[in-house]
Amino acid sequence: MKNAIALTDDIYWIGVNDFETDLFESIWPLPEGVSYNAYLIRDQKNVILDTVKKGYMPQLLEKIQSVVPATESIDYLVINHMEPDHSGSINALRRLYPDMQIVCNSRTVEFLRGYYGIDSGMRVIGDGEQLELGTHTLEFHLTPMVHWPETMMTFETRTGTLFSMDAFGGFGALRGGIFDDEVDLDERENETLRYYANIVAKYSPMVQRALKKLSALDIRAIAPTHGTVFRTDPGYIIDRYDRWSRQQTEPGVVIAYASMYGHTQTMAEAVARSLAVQGIKQIRLHNLSRSHLSYVLRDVWRYQGLILASSAYNTKPSPFMESLLSILDNDKLKNRLIGIIGTYSWSGGGVSAMREFAEKSDNELLEPVVESKFAPDHEDLEACHRLGGALASRLL
Ligand code: FEO
Repeated sequence: MKNAIALTDDIYWIGVNDFETDLFESIWPLPEGVSYNAYLIRDQKNVILDTVKKGYMPQLLEKIQSVVPATESIDYLVINHMEPDHSGSINALRRLYPDMQIVCNSRTVEFLRGYYGIDSGMRVIGDGEQLELGTHTLEFHLTPMVHWPETMMTFETRTGTLFSMDAFGGFGALRGGIFDDEVDLDERENETLRYYANIVAKYSPMVQRALKKLSALDIRAIAPTHGTVFRTDPGYIIDRYDRWSRQQTEPGVVIAYASMYGHTQTMAEAVARSLAVQGIKQIRLHNLSRSHLSYVLRDVWRYQGLILASSAYNTKPSPFMESLLSILDNDKLKNRLIGIIGTYSWSGGGVSAMREFAEKSDNELLEPVVESKFAPDHEDLEACHRLGGALASRLL
């Protein structure tokens, strides 16, 4: 997509697709790519809202120049968020438009200086402040820690367009369809939820705070910095972000297991079989040695049931299980029904660590906790079946 794409008569999407980065933040896989959405408003004052990752300036510039003639300049650059996937082209843009003022909040200033050596040409705005462009008016709403301390959203009052930075965004490049009425939202939901679970989940309480703060606005379009732009039904994505940030779940179970020689896997499969026999159809069996945590987290964020399964490894759980527990603890996972199973051969340490995680969290630990010595025997597998039954009865 070479040219800018009109969202309204005067508001344009000028973002880019990234199909080259394998890992977002060098952590999270991007098999379907990602978009960095930037926007432009044409008015008596021309405005760009956010930029794109470093290296994508040529594509950004093509889009800007497809709607802004060389005789005109860009008056303002609004910075809603300073993570480098959006701020990486600020200096390149300033070189092209040296009179352009950066519009940002006070928390943004140190980021501009620290990342890019920028300490002039800024217009620092406060919460609720407005900026007149001519026929459009921008209104700034500070939403700290959604996702970083300086994050804010910008509301254009005439069209009801909320430039929401990371909030309401998703993984997955834009494949021709930019707007919600042009894409299969159900098909894209997995990547949107994966983005939420990987990037935003930790900040769920701040998302809730932001949703309350924004509820008074007449939002008619949502223009995030990643993924689909919602011009027809912004309620679709607001509803999902509301549910996900309240940790509202769907009936179903994630079984996350780490097994060295198959004994823990046998127990995990016994629980899975029991769940299926009891009528649970949504079962996600993740071998933590094979499934990237990114996908495990997505499914954990969706479903109410969670079976943690690990062998003991050097007096602890498997390092893969430890990583999962660490992230779930950091995300303050709650409202789940948790079952724990595992194996040991001498000193243990796997099941006890998973139990400690579950007991200190705001989740419910189901009985029985099943720990098998060496390899599961008939009794151990019977206990796994009872655990599956106990979980199923709570979900149905
Ligand atoms: Fe897409 Fe927090 O940056």
